[in-house]
Amino acid sequence: MTHESAGIGAHYQEATKYARGRPIAHEPAWATPPPTYKVYAEYLQVVELPEPDTDGGNGLWGLLSRRRSRREFSEQPLSMAELSQLLWAIQGVTAEQEGFEFRTAASAGALYPNETYLVAQRVEGMMEGIYHYMVRERSLGMLAEGDFSTHLAEACLGQQWIARAGAVFVWGAVVARCAWKYQNRAYRYLYLDAGHLGAQLQLASEALGLASCNVGAFLDDEVAQLIGLDGHSEVVVYLTAVGHPATTG
Ligand SMILES: Cc1cc2nc3c(=O)[nH]c(=O)nc-3n(C[C@H](O)[C@H](O)[C@H](O)COP(=O)(O)O)c2cc1C
Repeated sequence: MTHESAGIGAHYQEATKYARGRPIAHEPAWATPPPTYKVYAEYLQVVELPEPDTDGGNGLWGLLSRRRSRREFSEQPLSMAELSQLLWAIQGVTAEQEGFEFRTAASAGALYPNETYLVAQRVEGMMEGIYHYMVRERSLGMLAEGDFSTHLAEACLGQQWIARAGAVFVWGAVVARCAWKYQNRAYRYLYLDAGHLGAQLQLASEALGLASCNVGAFLDDEVAQLIGLDGHSEVVVYLTAVGHPATTG
């Protein structure tokens, strides 16, 4: 099997792409959604649990309590320190052991298939543009200069709030980096890995008092093209928009 084009994983990836001219989704039966909770008619025993702590845990319980998807951003730009902290929170190298450079987020087989791209829309001291995060160097390399906010929002099925974020993190998975070991199963791991990145980015944003929202609804090839990816050997899997929250009241 060649990783990029053959196999059920690549086929699934292709067949589930959102694309212009392809119906986005069937109309769900809104009146009859499946139940959110599973209920057994009977349990052998029910164990009541004590109330969780929502305050301690070195601040983590509070962050988890407050985490919410926030889509309203103020004009305040992200600072370089905030951006740096967010990037560290998702892909910071925290240990070197047995030939691996382990990072802040878990990855199947420590293969780290996801590359981080940043669409900088309002970041202090940075020109608007598209950047690639160099994990080892801890620096951002510019790939394209300009205001891509409208273009990106349009490629995310017209979700205009995305254009008002300070920066949008885009994860592109290098399929072969994971399929080399896991073959078709790699496609599961690309997404699971990206889920970890999105979750950690949201918690880190919360810790910095920033607003964030993950994005899974996008036209795959249009976002890939914007970033400069071929959309096959490296596929866009997930995005998260981050910015200073709009002040309420
Ligand atoms: C995989 C995934 C994809 C998502 N895609 C979008 C999206 O495209 N647009 C959006 O506005 N929110 C998106 N969300 C945010 C969800 O709508 C949100 O997490 C959900 O409503 C629960 O709200 P909460 O995150 O505030 O707890 C996504 C979340 C996840 C986990």
